[in-house]
Formats: sequence, C-alpha cells, structure tokens
Amino acid sequence: MIKHKNIFQKVTIALLFSISIFAQKQARIVEDFNKNWNFKLGDYPEAVNANYNVSDWRILQLPHDWSIEGTFDKDSKTKQAQGFLPAGKGWYRKVFTIPASWKSKTISIEFDGVFKNSEVFINGKSLGIRPNGYISFSYDLSPYLNYGQANTIAVKVDNDAQPNSRWYTGSGIYRNVRLVTSEKLHVGKWGTFVTTPEVSTKQSKVHLEVTIDNDNDTAREFTLVTSILDAKNKEVANKISTEKIEAKTFETKVHNLDVLETQLWNTENPYLYKVITKIYEKSVLVDNYETALGFRFFNFDSEKGFSLNGKPTKILGVCLHHDNGALGSVENIHAVRRKLTLMKEMGANAIRMSHNPHSLEMMQLCDEMGFIVQDEAFDVWKKKKVTNDYHKDWDAWHKQDLVDFIKRDRNHPSVMMWSIGNEIREQFDSTGIAITRELAKIVKSLDATRPVTSALTENIIEKNFIYQSGALDLLGFNYKHEDYKDFPERFKGQKILASESVSALETRGHYDFPDGIKAWPTKHGAAFDGNADWTVSAYDQVKSYWGATHEENWKTIKKQDFMAGTFIWTGFDYIGEPDPYPYPARSSYFGIVDLAGLPKDVYYMYQSEWSNKTVLHIFPHWNWKKDQEVDVWAYYNNADEVELFLNGKSLGIKSKQNDDLHISWKVKFEPGMLKAISRKNGKVVLEKEIHTAGEASKIDLKADKTIIKNDTYDLVYVTVSTVDIDGNLLPNATDLINFEVTGGGKLVGVDNGYQANLDSFKANSCKLFSGKCIAIIQSNGKKENIQLKASTGNLQATIIEVKVK
Ligand code: GAL
Repeated sequence: MIKHKNIFQKVTIALLFSISIFAQKQARIVEDFNKNWNFKLGDYPEAVNANYNVSDWRILQLPHDWSIEGTFDKDSKTKQAQGFLPAGKGWYRKVFTIPASWKSKTISIEFDGVFKNSEVFINGKSLGIRPNGYISFSYDLSPYLNYGQANTIAVKVDNDAQPNSRWYTGSGIYRNVRLVTSEKLHVGKWGTFVTTPEVSTKQSKVHLEVTIDNDNDTAREFTLVTSILDAKNKEVANKISTEKIEAKTFETKVHNLDVLETQLWNTENPYLYKVITKIYEKSVLVDNYETALGFRFFNFDSEKGFSLNGKPTKILGVCLHHDNGALGSVENIHAVRRKLTLMKEMGANAIRMSHNPHSLEMMQLCDEMGFIVQDEAFDVWKKKKVTNDYHKDWDAWHKQDLVDFIKRDRNHPSVMMWSIGNEIREQFDSTGIAITRELAKIVKSLDATRPVTSALTENIIEKNFIYQSGALDLLGFNYKHEDYKDFPERFKGQKILASESVSALETRGHYDFPDGIKAWPTKHGAAFDGNADWTVSAYDQVKSYWGATHEENWKTIKKQDFMAGTFIWTGFDYIGEPDPYPYPARSSYFGIVDLAGLPKDVYYMYQSEWSNKTVLHIFPHWNWKKDQEVDVWAYYNNADEVELFLNGKSLGIKSKQNDDLHISWKVKFEPGMLKAISRKNGKVVLEKEIHTAGEASKIDLKADKTIIKNDTYDLVYVTVSTVDIDGNLLPNATDLINFEVTGGGKLVGVDNGYQANLDSFKANSCKLFSGKCIAIIQSNGKKENIQLKASTGNLQATIIEVKVK
C-alpha cells in the first residue's frame, strides 16, 4: 500500500516538474542586501526622507560595527563591559529599486541582528523598533515600496545608553541583511518546524509543520510538496498534498514522512539531510524553501549523564561570546568557521551560546561541524545586571523575543537545550518562580523536544527560586565544582550539567615562576596583586575566586558520571570583562585561546584529554636568563612516560600519577635545545624540541588559506612572527610590524592577543606580543591575487601571496 503511494507521488512530482519548466515563475529570491549602505555616526532623523543629502556619509558594506573602529578611552561610558570602546548613535541608509513587475509579490527585509534599539524606515514610514540587539527580525516592505522606482530604507541605531549588556556587543548592523522576495502565497517567516518523532538507522519518522502565508485578496488552492534529500541531494522521501487557504491569512499544514536507512547526525559525523518545501499553484512553482534536518536522539539522565544516539557522551563544551576579536561583532562565516575549527581540533563537542542569541552562521556551522548546542535566550530578566540592560525592555519584549528566538533556531539538529537565562537575579527572589514557569511554558509551546534549562549559581535549594519553580528539565550550575559531589543527594533525581565552569586566567606566552595556584583577592574589586604589565601567567595557575583552574575543574567533572558535561568559560578571550585588571586591560583573560585566535598552552591540556589526537606539548619557550630556574610543563597522552633532555642530557623520565593532567620539571636554564620524547611500551610516540632563539633574521608569515574567493567576504588570517636564522620563533619579540596589502584584498583587522593592547584593531600595523600577532585580510571583490607585505626595522620585508578565485 505504502509502496504504491510512493510510486504515485513520484509520478506526480515528475509531472509537476515537467509542467514547471514551461510555467515557472521565479520562486523565492533571497538577495544579499549588505552592499552599498551609507552610514554616519550621530542622529539624523531627517535621513528617512528620499531627498536627504548623504554625500558626506560613508559608503560601506554590512555587517558593520562602529565601536570596533573607535579608540579605547578610560572614561568611555561603555566601561569595561564593552572594553572601553565607544558606542552612541548611528544611521544607515540605502537607496534601491524594485522592478515594476514585482508589485504582485511579497518583499521583506531580514536583519540577523542590529545592536541595538533599531528603528527601520522605508520611504519615510517607520516599520517598527527592535530594542533587543541580539534578536533576528524582519519587516514586510511590500505595502510601502515604489515599484519600478527608487526606494529609501533608513535604519536608526541607538546604542547610547551604556553599559547595556555583558559582554562586548559592538554597535550597528553587525549581522547580515537580506531582501527576500516571494509570491504572495509562500512559506511564512521561520515557517517550517521539523521534528523526528522516531529515529533509528533502519527507519525514521519526520513530522513537518509548514506555516503558509496567503497575502492574496482571494482564497487559494495549492499543492504542497515535501521532499527530503540526503547529503548527496538524492531524494529519500516525499509527500504531496492538495491544500486550501483563505485570503489574507496563514495556516499550518502537516506532512509526515518516513526515511529508510537513516544516517544519524552525531558530533563526529554530522550528517545532514535537507527538507525541501515547494508550493505549486496550478502546477506553477510559487515557493521553494529549504530546512536543514539531522536525525539524532539524545537523553539526559540523572545518574548516567548525557547520551547521544544511545551512546554515553560527555558534553565537552565551551562558552562562546559573540564577538570575532579584531573584527568586533561583525559577523562573518569565515571568522566563525575558524573559531569552531579551533574548538573542534581541541576536542570540544559542544558550544554554549552565552548569553544571548548568536548569528545564523554560528547555528548553521554548529549543525555542519557537529557541535551540541546550548542555545541561550537571556542574561537578564526583570532585574538588572548593568544599568541600561535588557531589564528595561523585559515587560514589553520578552515574550516576542523568546518566541522569535525559538522559532528561528528550533530546526537546528545541533540545538539540544534551551537556556532561558544565565545567572538570572530572580533566582534569589520569589518572583523567579512565576517568570521561570512562564518562560518554560512559552518554550514548550513552540518546541517540546528539547529540555529547558537555566544556568544557576545558587545551589542551596531554599534560596533558589528558579529551581523551586519546578519548571526546569535540566539544572545548569555555574562554578562551585567542589559542591558537585553533593548534587545527586541534594537534587535527587535531577539531570545536571555544569553550564559554566573554570574562569581561570592566562595571557598567551607569558610565564611567571614559580608555578603554583594563585587565586585573585577574595574581595572582588580590590587591587589585584598581579603583574605591572597587566599580564597573567600562562601556566594554568591563576583562577577567579569563584572558579577553578582548568585542571581542577576537569578532574572533578571527569569523575562525576551523573554530570552531563561542562561548558568552560571561555573558548576564546572576548572584548570586555578584563577582570581583575582595570583599564588599560580591555579584554578578558578567560579564554583557552586568545583574542587573536592563538591558542594558550592549556589548549593542549584539553586536546590531550578531549580529542583523539596524540599530543605532546611542552612549554614555556626557551629564552631565559642563564641559570634561571624554569618550570617546564608537558601535556601528553597515548604514552606511558615523557623524558626531557636539555642539550642532549636527560633530565629524567616522568609520567602522570593518579589523576594528574600534566607533568613538570624544574630546570636550570642554559641556552640550547629542550627536547621531550613521549613513549609507550618503550616505543617513541612523539618528539618535541624547543630551541633558544638567536637574533631576528626575518619576518615569518603563515596564512591559514592559500586561496580565497573574490566575494568581498572571504577572509584569510595570517600569523606573523620573527624568526632567527634557523627558523626559531623569537618568543619575546615586540617589534612593530607594518602591513601593506595590494591586489584583491584589504586589511580588516590586526591583533596580538595582549589584553591591555590599546592600539586600534583597525591599524595598519601591530606590535608582536609574546612573539606573535595576526593580520586579517578580506577579499575586496577584485579578482587579483593578494600580496601582504610585512616590514619592521632593519629586517627585510616579507611578502606572501594569497590566490583569489
Ligand atoms: C559568570 C558569568 C559570565 C562571566 C563569568 C566570568 O558568572 O556568567 O558572564 O562574567 O562569570 O567568570
């Protein structure tokens, strides 16, 4: 019976396709709407008018963040939350034409994120405001457009009231903008919801809800076609139905499908299918909409922790903040891919989108690259954390923002938890009970397939009103790793996750001796007895008073089976929260990787524990004062022992005891070569050498790509250092490197990862810090190869070429 139906459906589809060759209207058109905007800092309400003169406004391509272009200022009202960069108000404006023939269509503009308080005007008419800078939104432009003539769109952005979020937000239209044109009968905004009620490698069930908008003045009859394609675009299931919809309304239609021999999505092999939704009116294709689909099932268990597709899996996660280092909050898929690749290679399998909705690109790449996602909606509810934060908009906007957040993200197979808040103040206030219940109810009404969680700090039950609401499916706890062991007793039968942990501090490449754990002063805000140059030692030895070192935390989590996993604060340093240092420190110290994307040493501790790569990492560098006693640490795995040699002389064999995560030696420095050999059953596994570097002889440039696209978006990250005649990196070099870019690219950011560097991220030069810096080059649209020339002092300039296709 089913078989016959499938054959019938296939024949019908073939018929539809053959008809549509002759009668195809252009279905949905999604246009990049980022180019050719005018921009000016300040407030220009008159700019909504068509005849307003913008000749002195900048012309730029979105996404754009004006804060990152500014200078650091101790007295900036953004304070440390925004890294002392400026905020303020700004206007964007664009003139565009729409073909006269499009009068019969629905045309909308989609903004992935505008920070913040945006108001959008089309041809002088306000379309609405959106206070929340993290949320994606769109407007229907159709009723207000001049068809066949010029149209003016103006966007006011007001990020003046500060501080207003944690952490760096950036200012402006910092995510992508698209123009979407469809026929008046079309799939609605975020109009599909796909779930997989049954998943197995033999046969899985797909339940698809499609919300159809009919903007026509008349009722319509149409054919709804669902087709599921595998990763090779081969159709594996389809469904056709004949439907009706009244005029000027929307309706949800349902298709249920079976997929045989299902490939499962998991973190090693994130296999993705596509659901293609097509609408035909009288055999003419009028809309075509794609939704990603992944088959996976997961479970949180109060005793056994987390499992994915039935396999026990520890959530090995990092919290990520939404900035892209030197690019500020400008969203760029290549920058996101670089971040996620670094995390994947470290062995992370999960990302917490702290503490607010991230970009579409981030969500899409987590699906494609295989990360388990904790998607987080809010950092504050009604009670504030900083003076001008979202608490001011809570009453008017939280319902809509939460609905939009869930609707946008609920089709991502990577998303496995909805977090309704981070360290929300209402956990200490009885109002927290009602709000938690309200938010959980909204989430469940839109998606009952994933648990609702919240990142809590208070683990005394009587004091935690968010917990007391009884509305959380999964308890997230931030920090206090010493208490974990009591949780099964204290929170009987509850599913538990360390939603945030560690908050240890490091500056890449800076080492203080002797090693040994140092917490900062217990009184928050007291002067930190830190280093005069605002560095923090890169041994995993300095932690916040509420946190733990990386090793302390991981040792604890590793042993607790009931604990679903952990999200380390943070994968990368981010702009803002330079705690415990005051200005001039302007970015955080908590990252496993620095702001420039250069790993700190502890990255390799995680790699040795979390990934299946074979690791031997020794540090520090080998340029010290004669006879200085140096702590040498090694992270390693897949070996029984490591032997250390200085200039060929053995300094002894060591191996990790009990739950050790590193080994160390105290070594009296003499110049030359430090070498480590790891062995298993007497056989060499890996060898690592570090040489004392001599005089600088040249600038070394390493690009992460040899070829980029000429699409005005693609990026190449170049790591810059100076090396001696034998190619050894000078670990303490601080040379100012000047950059010149010619051909098909432009310099869009520089950084050296030093948390107190007050030079602009947009400068044409950058000082090396701990021997390194990066230059970020972006395609300028020309189809010419790019040359990057780096020069300093007396050294000969080095030039590298990147191909452009
Ligand atoms: C947490 C908070 C984060 C960040 C972190 C620093 O309590 O959720 O946003 O401030 O501390 O350790």
